[in-house]
Amino acid sequence: MSRFHIVEHPLIAHKMSVLRNKETKSPLFRQTLREVAYLMTFAVTQHLDLVPLRIETPLEVADCYQGNGLTEALLNILPEASVGHLGMARNDQTLQPEKYYTKLPSDISARQVILADPMLATAGSTVAAIDILRDHGVKDIVFMCLLAAPEGVERLREAHPDVPIFTAALDRQLNEKGYILPGLGDAGDRIYGT
Ligand code: URA
Repeated sequence: MSRFHIVEHPLIAHKMSVLRNKETKSPLFRQTLREVAYLMTFAVTQHLDLVPLRIETPLEVADCYQGNGLTEALLNILPEASVGHLGMARNDQTLQPEKYYTKLPSDISARQVILADPMLATAGSTVAAIDILRDHGVKDIVFMCLLAAPEGVERLREAHPDVPIFTAALDRQLNEKGYILPGLGDAGDRIYGT
């Protein structure tokens, strides 16, 4: 699998404009963010291993498949996924990630992990999150975001070249405060209306 993917689709491009628009209020921002995540799942999950499964249809037995693990952004579509949380906040002065919460499934080392974060900006928190997953023995990781900056993509590829990146859009650059340009602002503020 190649390692950097912009998930291109007219619906995603349209919805990214809604997210970028500063007039978009939190309820519509949240709904649109979910819709982009749904639309991205097809690409993000294409590598997942499947487990053979026998299903009885009303007419006969059929050999089918089921998936065996997805992460939070995909949970509404595949509700049986286990979800781990890595809470990180960016220190506004140093721009370095500060970890405040870790909760991972106990058998995470045996799982295929999709790490989801709306913004790949400096890549500080993403690199730190993947370091933590590696420390827990996770081998199979893909990273999914809405928006990426070239600087973040480069840093992530340097630190973890084996982790595929899926993004809905690749923007121009970071500003001096580590925000993506043209971007959509602070994703957390826009999701929660803070
Ligand atoms: N995090 C955000 O929420 N927005 C950016 O532009 C960069 C990092």
